[in-house]
Amino acid sequence: MNPRKITERMAQHLDMLRAQSQFRTLGTPAGIDLNSNDYLGLATDPRLKQAVLEAVAHATTVGSTGSRLLSGNAREWEDAESGFAEFAGTEAALYFGSGYAANVGLLASIVRPGDIVFSDARNHASLIDGIRLSGATKVIYPHCDLSYLENALREHAGNAGSKVIVTETVFSMEGDVAPMQGLLELARKYGAVIVLDEAHAIGVLGPHGRGIAAEHACEREVLAIVHTCGKALASAGAFVCGGKTLKEYLVNRARTFIFGTAMPPYFARQIQAALGLAREADAERAHLRQMAAALREKLAARGFDCGTSETHIVPVMLGSNERALHVADVLQRSGFAIRAIRPPTVPEGSARVRFSLTSRLSLDEIRRLAQAMDAACESLPSVPSASVVHA
Ligand SMILES: Cc1ncc(COP(=O)(O)O)c(C=O)c1O
Repeated sequence: MNPRKITERMAQHLDMLRAQSQFRTLGTPAGIDLNSNDYLGLATDPRLKQAVLEAVAHATTVGSTGSRLLSGNAREWEDAESGFAEFAGTEAALYFGSGYAANVGLLASIVRPGDIVFSDARNHASLIDGIRLSGATKVIYPHCDLSYLENALREHAGNAGSKVIVTETVFSMEGDVAPMQGLLELARKYGAVIVLDEAHAIGVLGPHGRGIAAEHACEREVLAIVHTCGKALASAGAFVCGGKTLKEYLVNRARTFIFGTAMPPYFARQIQAALGLAREADAERAHLRQMAAALREKLAARGFDCGTSETHIVPVMLGSNERALHVADVLQRSGFAIRAIRPPTVPEGSARVRFSLTSRLSLDEIRRLAQAMDAACESLPSVPSASVVHA
């Protein structure tokens, strides 16, 4: 295939996305933030900024110069990992340059063909891709459906391979929480292990923002907990937390760890500073809970469907891509930074706007948002409620 042909094929695909209202463009956010994962407002916190300046000022090098296994290891990263393991309540932790790399590296290395992975239907793409790469048999259970999961575990009880249950703890597009107690009981009953992705829980839920595993005191019972640093910690990367053997195994086998340049050492200091601030942010967590409850109440009173949201992530289900785009557009013009969420990020026919709240929001802004939703929806009947998306 010559370059012109492949470029034409790409252009045709883009035309198809446009026709389906699925074409994406990059935008610079403007307005009241309802779109970011900066849940504790740390991205603009002067204390964190100061910590970064000091870390850079004291750094002997601003580049890591290589993979951790070659020239890129640094005492700063080892300190950050032991500090993070203590926070997570696990024996050890290993840092990856992104949450995506952490999930892919973890799952693709610890799970093998012959094993069976039980994966929640709403799991993040990074978990899905890691499972795909592992070559294991995949069982997708309907979102948070414990009885389906139990039947599947029973059905595969005689299988000799390892059984691994993989779930987010707070689901990024639904804002609901995994049924942790039920998952633990099923894992015990059927001899399965659990892998948790706490990307949207860290800093926000659990004691001192330590997440849902800590809330259920199961940090040492589960096989691995992935805590990302790009959301409430206003940094980047992720720690895979678990036992010492898991860490040693990942250092030796996780390709996304081995074959990538380490992040610069000063960045470890940023993460540690952010973690210190997040631990102490009980007031911000309480405020965030209050804002989310107020928003859900106001939206419900107006007849909006917030799905199963019970956290700081509050979606409003709109159905078709066109409806979601329309509402997002009106909200943007009313001064809110928001984007429509469409397939493939969410299942077909379940496009939505998703309010991802931060502790910087005020009750007045929540009130204005609810009013803006009224205005956005007044013009809705003119757009279809369900879009037909061709494969
Ligand atoms: C649940 C979940 N896991 C993992 C990731 C990936 O993390 P990162 O953005 O650090 O690559 C995300 C990010 O969007 C996420 O929502």
